[in-house]
Amino acid sequence: MSTPIIHLTSKGKNLIIHPPLSGVSLIGTIRVPGDKSISHRALMLGAIARGQTTIEGLLLGEDPRSTASCFRTMGAEISQLNSKKVIVQGVGLNNLSEPPDILKAGNSGTTLRLMLGLLAASRGRFFTVTGDNSLRSRPMGRVVKPLQQMGASIWGRKNHSLAPLAIKGEQLQSIHYHSPIASAQVKSSILLAGLLTEGKTTVTEPAISRDHSERMLKAFGAELTVDREVKSVTITGGTELTGQTVIVPGDISSAAFWLVAGAIVPGSELLIENVGVNPTRTGIIEALAMMEADIQLENQREVAGEPVADLRVRHGELKGCTIEGNLIPRLIDEIPILAVAAAFAQGTTLIKDAAELRVKESDRLAVIASQLNAMGAKTTELPDGLEIVGGVLLTGTEVKSYDDHRITMSLAIAALNAKEKTTIYGAQAAAISYPDFVDTLTLTVQSS
Ligand code: S3P
Repeated sequence: MSTPIIHLTSKGKNLIIHPPLSGVSLIGTIRVPGDKSISHRALMLGAIARGQTTIEGLLLGEDPRSTASCFRTMGAEISQLNSKKVIVQGVGLNNLSEPPDILKAGNSGTTLRLMLGLLAASRGRFFTVTGDNSLRSRPMGRVVKPLQQMGASIWGRKNHSLAPLAIKGEQLQSIHYHSPIASAQVKSSILLAGLLTEGKTTVTEPAISRDHSERMLKAFGAELTVDREVKSVTITGGTELTGQTVIVPGDISSAAFWLVAGAIVPGSELLIENVGVNPTRTGIIEALAMMEADIQLENQREVAGEPVADLRVRHGELKGCTIEGNLIPRLIDEIPILAVAAAFAQGTTLIKDAAELRVKESDRLAVIASQLNAMGAKTTELPDGLEIVGGVLLTGTEVKSYDDHRITMSLAIAALNAKEKTTIYGAQAAAISYPDFVDTLTLTVQSS
Protein backbone atom coordinates (compact mmCIF):
# COMPACT_ATOMS: atom_id res chain seq x y z
CA MET A 1 0.00 0.00 0.00
CA SER A 2 1.42 3.42 -0.89
CA THR A 3 1.85 6.04 1.88
CA PRO A 4 -0.80 8.76 1.83
CA ILE A 5 0.30 12.16 0.55
CA ILE A 6 -1.06 13.88 3.67
CA HIS A 7 -1.16 12.49 7.19
CA LEU A 8 -1.26 13.62 10.78
CA THR A 9 0.91 12.05 13.48
CA SER A 10 1.39 12.46 17.24
CA LYS A 11 -2.35 12.90 17.90
CA GLY A 12 -2.70 15.57 15.23
CA LYS A 13 0.27 17.62 16.41
CA ASN A 14 2.41 17.03 13.33
CA LEU A 15 1.30 17.24 9.72
CA ILE A 16 3.28 15.35 7.10
CA ILE A 17 2.92 16.23 3.44
CA HIS A 18 4.77 14.12 0.93
CA PRO A 19 3.75 14.70 -2.70
CA PRO A 20 4.70 12.00 -5.22
CA LEU A 21 7.50 12.77 -7.70
CA SER A 22 4.90 13.40 -10.40
CA GLY A 23 3.31 16.12 -8.20
CA VAL A 24 -0.30 16.71 -7.15
CA SER A 25 -3.22 18.84 -8.22
CA LEU A 26 -6.22 20.15 -6.30
CA ILE A 27 -9.65 19.58 -7.79
CA GLY A 28 -13.11 20.06 -6.36
CA THR A 29 -15.85 22.21 -4.90
CA ILE A 30 -15.35 23.16 -1.29
CA ARG A 31 -16.77 25.30 1.50
CA VAL A 32 -14.71 27.07 4.11
CA PRO A 33 -15.77 27.56 7.76
CA GLY A 34 -17.63 30.64 8.94
CA ASP A 35 -15.90 34.00 9.08
CA LYS A 36 -13.97 34.35 12.33
CA SER A 37 -14.48 38.11 12.72
CA ILE A 38 -18.22 37.88 12.08
CA SER A 39 -18.56 34.84 14.38
CA HIS A 40 -17.00 36.71 17.33
CA ARG A 41 -19.20 39.74 16.76
CA ALA A 42 -22.40 37.70 16.41
CA LEU A 43 -21.72 35.99 19.75
CA MET A 44 -20.83 39.26 21.49
CA LEU A 45 -23.66 41.39 20.14
CA GLY A 46 -26.08 38.52 20.74
CA ALA A 47 -24.85 38.33 24.34
CA ILE A 48 -25.42 42.04 25.06
CA ALA A 49 -28.65 42.42 23.06
CA ARG A 50 -32.13 42.05 24.50
CA GLY A 51 -33.87 38.88 23.34
CA GLN A 52 -32.77 36.02 21.15
CA THR A 53 -30.08 35.94 18.47
CA THR A 54 -29.84 33.03 16.05
CA ILE A 55 -26.48 32.44 14.39
CA GLU A 56 -26.17 30.22 11.32
CA GLY A 57 -22.78 29.18 9.96
CA LEU A 58 -20.78 30.07 13.08
CA LEU A 59 -17.10 29.16 12.96
CA LEU A 60 -16.57 26.23 15.33
CA GLY A 61 -12.88 27.04 15.82
CA GLU A 62 -11.19 27.55 19.17
CA ASP A 63 -11.29 31.36 19.00
CA PRO A 64 -15.09 31.75 18.89
CA ARG A 65 -15.30 29.05 21.58
CA SER A 66 -13.25 31.39 23.80
CA THR A 67 -15.69 34.24 23.12
CA ALA A 68 -18.70 32.03 23.86
CA SER A 69 -17.17 30.79 27.10
CA CYS A 70 -16.35 34.34 28.34
CA PHE A 71 -19.87 35.62 27.69
CA ARG A 72 -21.49 32.55 29.24
CA THR A 73 -19.45 33.31 32.38
CA MET A 74 -21.02 36.80 32.35
CA GLY A 75 -24.62 35.59 32.16
CA ALA A 76 -25.45 35.18 28.46
CA GLU A 77 -27.12 31.91 27.57
CA ILE A 78 -25.42 30.43 24.51
CA SER A 79 -26.49 27.04 23.18
CA GLN A 80 -23.90 24.42 22.26
CA LEU A 81 -21.79 25.67 19.36
CA ASN A 82 -22.96 24.14 16.13
CA SER A 83 -22.59 25.47 12.59
CA LYS A 84 -26.30 24.93 11.79
CA LYS A 85 -27.82 27.06 14.53
CA VAL A 86 -26.51 28.69 17.69
CA ILE A 87 -29.03 30.43 19.93
CA VAL A 88 -27.93 33.27 22.18
CA GLN A 89 -30.18 34.75 24.87
CA GLY A 90 -28.73 38.18 25.55
CA VAL A 91 -28.54 39.96 28.89
CA GLY A 92 -29.49 43.41 27.57
CA LEU A 93 -27.57 46.68 27.47
CA ASN A 94 -25.01 47.20 30.22
CA ASN A 95 -26.15 44.11 32.05
CA LEU A 96 -23.23 41.65 31.90
CA SER A 97 -22.83 40.04 35.30
CA GLU A 98 -19.61 40.13 37.28
CA PRO A 99 -17.85 36.85 36.47
CA PRO A 100 -17.01 34.62 39.43
CA ASP A 101 -13.74 33.61 37.78
CA ILE A 102 -11.04 34.81 35.35
CA LEU A 103 -12.25 35.32 31.76
CA LYS A 104 -10.06 33.27 29.42
CA ALA A 105 -9.61 34.52 25.87
CA GLY A 106 -7.26 31.67 24.83
CA ASN A 107 -5.36 32.58 21.68
CA SER A 108 -7.88 35.17 20.55
CA GLY A 109 -6.92 38.84 20.25
CA THR A 110 -10.38 39.72 18.95
CA THR A 111 -12.07 38.20 22.03
CA LEU A 112 -9.83 40.06 24.44
CA ARG A 113 -9.67 43.45 22.73
CA LEU A 114 -13.37 43.75 21.84
CA MET A 115 -14.45 42.46 25.25
CA LEU A 116 -12.22 45.02 27.01
CA GLY A 117 -14.36 47.84 25.58
CA LEU A 118 -17.50 46.32 27.08
CA LEU A 119 -15.92 45.48 30.44
CA ALA A 120 -14.31 48.90 30.91
CA ALA A 121 -17.78 50.48 30.53
CA SER A 122 -19.62 48.00 32.81
CA ARG A 123 -19.92 50.30 35.80
CA GLY A 124 -19.63 48.77 39.26
CA ARG A 125 -18.35 45.35 38.22
CA PHE A 126 -14.85 43.84 38.42
CA PHE A 127 -13.26 41.57 35.83
CA THR A 128 -9.97 39.78 35.27
CA VAL A 129 -9.01 38.59 31.79
CA THR A 130 -6.15 36.53 30.46
CA GLY A 131 -5.06 34.44 27.49
CA ASP A 132 -2.53 31.83 26.36
CA ASN A 133 1.25 32.41 26.12
CA SER A 134 0.92 34.16 22.76
CA LEU A 135 -1.95 36.44 23.77
CA ARG A 136 -0.26 37.39 27.05
CA SER A 137 2.63 38.83 25.03
CA ARG A 138 0.51 40.78 22.52
CA PRO A 139 0.02 44.54 22.92
CA MET A 140 -3.19 45.55 24.68
CA GLY A 141 -2.04 49.17 25.18
CA ARG A 142 -3.60 50.01 21.82
CA VAL A 143 -7.06 49.54 23.35
CA VAL A 144 -6.21 50.26 27.00
CA LYS A 145 -4.94 53.79 26.19
CA PRO A 146 -8.05 55.07 24.39
CA LEU A 147 -10.26 53.38 26.97
CA GLN A 148 -8.27 55.14 29.71
CA GLN A 149 -8.90 58.42 27.86
CA MET A 150 -12.60 57.59 28.25
CA GLY A 151 -12.01 57.13 31.99
CA ALA A 152 -11.42 53.36 32.19
CA SER A 153 -9.66 51.70 35.15
CA ILE A 154 -7.46 48.88 33.85
CA TRP A 155 -4.37 47.35 35.44
CA GLY A 156 -1.74 45.02 34.03
CA ARG A 157 1.97 44.43 33.47
CA LYS A 158 4.10 46.81 31.36
CA ASN A 159 2.12 49.96 32.12
CA HIS A 160 -1.23 48.14 31.84
CA SER A 161 -0.50 46.90 28.33
CA LEU A 162 -0.18 43.13 28.83
CA ALA A 163 -2.71 40.51 29.95
CA PRO A 164 -3.58 39.32 32.54
CA LEU A 165 -5.57 42.53 33.01
CA ALA A 166 -7.83 43.60 35.87
CA ILE A 167 -10.71 45.92 35.03
CA LYS A 168 -12.97 47.96 37.29
CA GLY A 169 -15.99 48.95 35.20
CA GLU A 170 -16.62 52.70 35.18
CA GLN A 171 -19.06 55.20 33.76
CA LEU A 172 -16.99 56.35 30.77
CA GLN A 173 -17.04 59.60 28.81
CA SER A 174 -17.41 59.69 25.05
CA ILE A 175 -14.36 60.77 23.02
CA HIS A 176 -13.19 61.28 19.46
CA TYR A 177 -10.25 58.92 19.09
CA HIS A 178 -7.77 59.25 16.22
CA SER A 179 -6.26 55.78 16.07
CA PRO A 180 -2.61 55.66 14.97
CA ILE A 181 -3.19 52.20 13.44
CA ALA A 182 -5.78 50.81 11.04
CA SER A 183 -7.09 48.12 13.36
CA ALA A 184 -10.64 46.78 13.41
CA GLN A 185 -10.03 45.42 16.89
CA VAL A 186 -9.13 48.87 18.24
CA LYS A 187 -12.02 50.53 16.39
CA SER A 188 -14.52 47.91 17.57
CA SER A 189 -13.36 47.97 21.19
CA ILE A 190 -13.94 51.74 21.40
CA LEU A 191 -17.27 51.52 19.57
CA LEU A 192 -18.48 48.87 22.04
CA ALA A 193 -17.37 51.06 24.97
CA GLY A 194 -19.16 53.95 23.20
CA LEU A 195 -22.36 51.89 22.98
CA LEU A 196 -22.45 51.82 26.80
CA THR A 197 -21.46 55.50 27.19
CA GLU A 198 -23.65 58.59 26.98
CA GLY A 199 -23.07 60.85 23.96
CA LYS A 200 -21.30 60.32 20.66
CA THR A 201 -18.06 58.32 20.48
CA THR A 202 -16.07 58.64 17.25
CA VAL A 203 -13.11 56.63 15.97
CA THR A 204 -11.06 57.86 13.02
CA GLU A 205 -8.53 55.48 11.47
CA PRO A 206 -5.59 56.12 9.14
CA ALA A 207 -6.88 53.55 6.59
CA ILE A 208 -10.13 51.63 6.46
CA SER A 209 -10.09 48.35 8.38
CA ARG A 210 -12.74 45.60 8.27
CA ASP A 211 -16.21 47.01 8.96
CA HIS A 212 -18.10 43.96 10.29
CA SER A 213 -18.75 45.67 13.65
CA GLU A 214 -20.32 48.70 11.97
CA ARG A 215 -22.58 46.55 9.79
CA MET A 216 -23.66 44.28 12.62
CA LEU A 217 -24.12 47.00 15.23
CA LYS A 218 -26.46 48.79 12.80
CA ALA A 219 -28.36 45.57 12.08
CA PHE A 220 -28.85 45.07 15.85
CA GLY A 221 -30.30 48.59 16.11
CA ALA A 222 -27.37 50.73 17.28
CA GLU A 223 -27.30 54.39 16.26
CA LEU A 224 -24.15 54.51 14.17
CA THR A 225 -22.90 56.59 11.24
CA VAL A 226 -19.93 56.00 8.97
CA ASP A 227 -18.06 58.76 7.12
CA ARG A 228 -15.92 56.93 4.55
CA GLU A 229 -14.36 60.21 3.27
CA VAL A 230 -12.65 60.92 6.60
CA LYS A 231 -12.53 57.23 7.65
CA SER A 232 -14.50 57.73 10.82
CA VAL A 233 -17.33 55.95 12.62
CA THR A 234 -19.59 57.49 15.26
CA ILE A 235 -21.79 55.63 17.69
CA THR A 236 -24.39 57.21 19.95
CA GLY A 237 -24.44 55.46 23.29
CA GLY A 238 -27.39 54.13 25.22
CA THR A 239 -29.43 52.38 22.54
CA GLU A 240 -30.60 48.90 23.49
CA LEU A 241 -29.66 46.27 20.89
CA THR A 242 -32.26 43.76 19.77
CA GLY A 243 -31.43 40.10 19.03
CA GLN A 244 -31.22 39.24 15.31
CA THR A 245 -30.62 36.36 12.94
CA VAL A 246 -27.01 36.41 11.71
CA ILE A 247 -25.93 34.28 8.75
CA VAL A 248 -22.16 33.96 8.79
CA PRO A 249 -20.51 33.66 5.35
CA GLY A 250 -17.39 31.57 4.70
CA ASP A 251 -14.16 33.20 5.83
CA ILE A 252 -12.17 34.77 2.99
CA SER A 253 -9.07 34.43 5.20
CA SER A 254 -9.59 30.64 5.13
CA ALA A 255 -10.50 30.67 1.42
CA ALA A 256 -7.15 32.42 0.82
CA PHE A 257 -5.28 29.12 1.37
CA TRP A 258 -7.27 27.48 -1.43
CA LEU A 259 -6.98 30.53 -3.70
CA VAL A 260 -3.21 30.33 -3.46
CA ALA A 261 -3.10 26.52 -3.58
CA GLY A 262 -5.27 26.48 -6.72
CA ALA A 263 -3.15 29.18 -8.32
CA ILE A 264 0.27 27.62 -7.65
CA VAL A 265 -0.31 23.85 -7.89
CA PRO A 266 -0.22 22.71 -11.56
CA GLY A 267 -3.44 21.23 -12.95
CA SER A 268 -5.64 22.61 -10.15
CA GLU A 269 -9.15 24.00 -10.33
CA LEU A 270 -11.18 24.75 -7.20
CA LEU A 271 -14.58 26.30 -6.65
CA ILE A 272 -14.88 27.78 -3.14
CA GLU A 273 -18.54 28.38 -2.40
CA ASN A 274 -20.20 30.94 -0.14
CA VAL A 275 -17.23 33.17 0.69
CA GLY A 276 -17.66 36.59 2.31
CA VAL A 277 -16.39 39.27 -0.08
CA ASN A 278 -16.86 42.37 2.04
CA PRO A 279 -14.72 45.04 0.25
CA THR A 280 -12.76 45.66 3.48
CA ARG A 281 -11.53 42.04 3.24
CA THR A 282 -10.94 41.40 -0.48
CA GLY A 283 -7.36 42.69 -0.62
CA ILE A 284 -6.20 39.08 -1.16
CA ILE A 285 -8.19 38.82 -4.41
CA GLU A 286 -6.74 42.14 -5.61
CA ALA A 287 -3.18 41.15 -4.70
CA LEU A 288 -3.52 37.79 -6.48
CA ALA A 289 -5.02 39.59 -9.50
CA MET A 290 -1.92 41.84 -9.52
CA MET A 291 0.10 38.61 -9.61
CA GLU A 292 -2.03 37.57 -12.63
CA ALA A 293 -3.80 34.69 -10.87
CA ASP A 294 -6.86 33.25 -12.64
CA ILE A 295 -9.64 33.93 -10.11
CA GLN A 296 -13.31 34.56 -10.86
CA LEU A 297 -16.12 35.74 -8.60
CA GLU A 298 -19.35 33.92 -9.45
CA ASN A 299 -22.90 34.14 -8.13
CA GLN A 300 -22.32 37.42 -6.27
CA ARG A 301 -25.08 38.17 -3.79
CA GLU A 302 -25.80 39.75 -0.40
CA VAL A 303 -26.61 37.55 2.62
CA ALA A 304 -27.75 39.19 5.88
CA GLY A 305 -25.93 42.45 5.21
CA GLU A 306 -22.63 40.98 3.96
CA PRO A 307 -21.58 40.48 0.29
CA VAL A 308 -20.98 36.84 -0.63
CA ALA A 309 -19.68 35.05 -3.78
CA ASP A 310 -18.35 31.73 -5.03
CA LEU A 311 -14.68 31.94 -5.99
CA ARG A 312 -13.21 29.91 -8.84
CA VAL A 313 -9.44 29.57 -9.12
CA ARG A 314 -7.39 27.82 -11.77
CA HIS A 315 -3.68 27.18 -11.89
CA GLY A 316 -1.57 29.62 -13.91
CA GLU A 317 1.80 31.29 -13.81
CA LEU A 318 2.08 34.05 -11.19
CA LYS A 319 4.22 37.21 -11.39
CA GLY A 320 5.82 39.09 -8.51
CA CYS A 321 4.33 42.46 -7.50
CA THR A 322 4.42 45.11 -4.76
CA ILE A 323 1.81 45.02 -1.99
CA GLU A 324 1.69 48.09 0.26
CA GLY A 325 -0.25 51.03 1.71
CA ASN A 326 -4.03 50.95 2.11
CA LEU A 327 -4.18 47.43 0.67
CA ILE A 328 -2.40 46.03 3.75
CA PRO A 329 -5.28 46.34 6.28
CA ARG A 330 -7.54 44.70 3.68
CA LEU A 331 -5.35 41.55 3.54
CA ILE A 332 -3.58 41.72 6.89
CA ASP A 333 -4.21 38.06 7.81
CA GLU A 334 -3.37 36.78 4.32
CA ILE A 335 0.26 37.92 4.18
CA PRO A 336 1.75 34.55 5.21
CA ILE A 337 -0.10 32.74 2.40
CA LEU A 338 0.70 35.58 -0.01
CA ALA A 339 4.37 35.00 0.80
CA VAL A 340 3.85 31.39 -0.32
CA ALA A 341 2.27 32.59 -3.58
CA ALA A 342 5.24 34.93 -4.05
CA ALA A 343 7.73 32.10 -3.51
CA PHE A 344 6.22 30.32 -6.55
CA ALA A 345 5.81 33.47 -8.70
CA GLN A 346 8.26 34.63 -11.34
CA GLY A 347 10.24 37.69 -10.22
CA THR A 348 10.35 39.56 -6.94
CA THR A 349 7.44 40.40 -4.62
CA LEU A 350 7.76 43.23 -2.15
CA ILE A 351 5.44 43.49 0.84
CA LYS A 352 5.68 46.82 2.72
CA ASP A 353 3.82 48.72 5.50
CA ALA A 354 3.06 45.45 7.28
CA ALA A 355 4.90 45.87 10.62
CA GLU A 356 1.59 44.92 12.34
CA LEU A 357 2.38 41.32 11.43
CA ARG A 358 5.06 41.29 14.10
CA VAL A 359 2.38 41.40 16.85
CA LYS A 360 -0.04 38.78 15.54
CA GLU A 361 -0.36 35.23 16.95
CA SER A 362 3.38 34.99 16.15
CA ASP A 363 5.85 37.43 14.57
CA ARG A 364 4.52 36.44 11.17
CA LEU A 365 7.21 38.25 9.16
CA ALA A 366 10.05 36.49 10.98
CA VAL A 367 8.31 33.11 11.12
CA ILE A 368 7.13 32.83 7.53
CA ALA A 369 10.51 34.07 6.22
CA SER A 370 12.53 31.60 8.32
CA GLN A 371 10.26 28.60 7.65
CA LEU A 372 9.98 29.20 3.88
CA ASN A 373 13.73 29.74 3.71
CA ALA A 374 14.22 26.41 5.50
CA MET A 375 12.43 24.91 2.47
CA GLY A 376 14.80 26.72 0.11
CA ALA A 377 12.88 29.95 -0.59
CA LYS A 378 14.65 33.28 -0.97
CA THR A 379 12.83 35.52 1.48
CA THR A 380 14.38 38.55 3.15
CA GLU A 381 12.76 40.02 6.23
CA LEU A 382 12.35 43.83 6.18
CA PRO A 383 11.43 45.87 9.27
CA ASP A 384 7.88 46.27 7.92
CA GLY A 385 7.56 43.53 5.34
CA LEU A 386 9.19 40.90 3.16
CA GLU A 387 11.11 40.69 -0.09
CA ILE A 388 10.57 37.38 -1.83
CA VAL A 389 12.49 36.28 -4.89
CA GLY A 390 10.20 33.74 -6.48
CA GLY A 391 10.55 30.83 -8.86
CA VAL A 392 12.99 28.79 -6.74
CA LEU A 393 12.17 25.08 -6.36
CA LEU A 394 11.23 24.33 -2.73
CA THR A 395 12.26 21.11 -0.97
CA GLY A 396 10.36 19.62 1.95
CA THR A 397 12.01 19.64 5.37
CA GLU A 398 11.05 19.97 9.05
CA VAL A 399 9.29 23.26 9.80
CA LYS A 400 7.45 24.73 12.80
CA SER A 401 4.09 26.49 13.09
CA TYR A 402 5.09 28.54 16.16
CA ASP A 403 1.55 27.65 17.30
CA ASP A 404 0.15 30.03 14.72
CA HIS A 405 -2.84 28.75 12.73
CA ARG A 406 -2.16 30.80 9.61
CA ILE A 407 1.52 29.79 9.53
CA THR A 408 0.56 26.09 9.77
CA MET A 409 -1.81 26.29 6.82
CA SER A 410 0.53 28.46 4.72
CA LEU A 411 3.37 25.96 5.16
CA ALA A 412 1.03 23.08 4.27
CA ILE A 413 0.19 24.74 0.94
CA ALA A 414 3.88 25.42 0.24
CA ALA A 415 4.62 21.74 1.01
CA LEU A 416 2.13 20.56 -1.64
CA ASN A 417 4.28 22.18 -4.29
CA ALA A 418 7.65 21.23 -2.84
CA LYS A 419 9.62 18.12 -3.67
CA GLU A 420 10.13 15.51 -0.96
CA LYS A 421 8.59 15.33 2.49
CA THR A 422 7.63 18.27 4.76
CA THR A 423 6.84 17.80 8.45
CA ILE A 424 5.00 20.69 10.11
CA TYR A 425 5.34 20.60 13.90
CA GLY A 426 2.53 22.22 15.90
CA ALA A 427 -0.06 21.69 13.16
CA GLN A 428 -2.88 21.44 15.72
CA ALA A 429 -2.88 25.27 15.68
CA ALA A 430 -5.01 25.17 12.51
CA ALA A 431 -8.04 24.43 14.75
CA ILE A 432 -8.02 28.05 15.95
CA SER A 433 -9.71 29.17 12.73
CA TYR A 434 -10.06 26.06 10.53
CA PRO A 435 -10.67 22.75 12.33
CA ASP A 436 -11.34 20.83 9.08
CA PHE A 437 -8.38 22.14 7.12
CA VAL A 438 -6.53 18.82 6.84
CA ASP A 439 -9.74 16.95 5.91
CA THR A 440 -10.48 19.38 3.08
CA LEU A 441 -6.87 19.21 1.91
CA THR A 442 -7.03 15.41 1.83
CA LEU A 443 -10.31 15.47 -0.11
CA THR A 444 -9.12 17.86 -2.82
CA VAL A 445 -5.57 16.57 -3.40
CA GLN A 446 -5.06 14.17 -6.31
CA SER A 447 -1.82 12.63 -7.55
CA SER A 448 -0.91 13.95 -10.99
C1 S3P B 1 -9.71 41.23 13.38
C2 S3P B 1 -8.93 42.29 13.04
C3 S3P B 1 -7.53 42.15 12.60
C4 S3P B 1 -7.19 40.72 12.20
C5 S3P B 1 -7.71 39.72 13.19
C6 S3P B 1 -9.22 39.84 13.31
C7 S3P B 1 -11.09 41.49 13.83
O1 S3P B 1 -6.69 42.54 13.66
O2 S3P B 1 -5.81 40.57 12.08
O3 S3P B 1 -7.40 38.42 12.78
O4 S3P B 1 -11.90 40.55 13.85
O5 S3P B 1 -11.39 42.64 14.16
P1 S3P B 1 -6.28 44.09 13.88
O6 S3P B 1 -7.52 44.82 14.15
O7 S3P B 1 -5.39 44.08 15.09
O8 S3P B 1 -5.57 44.48 12.64
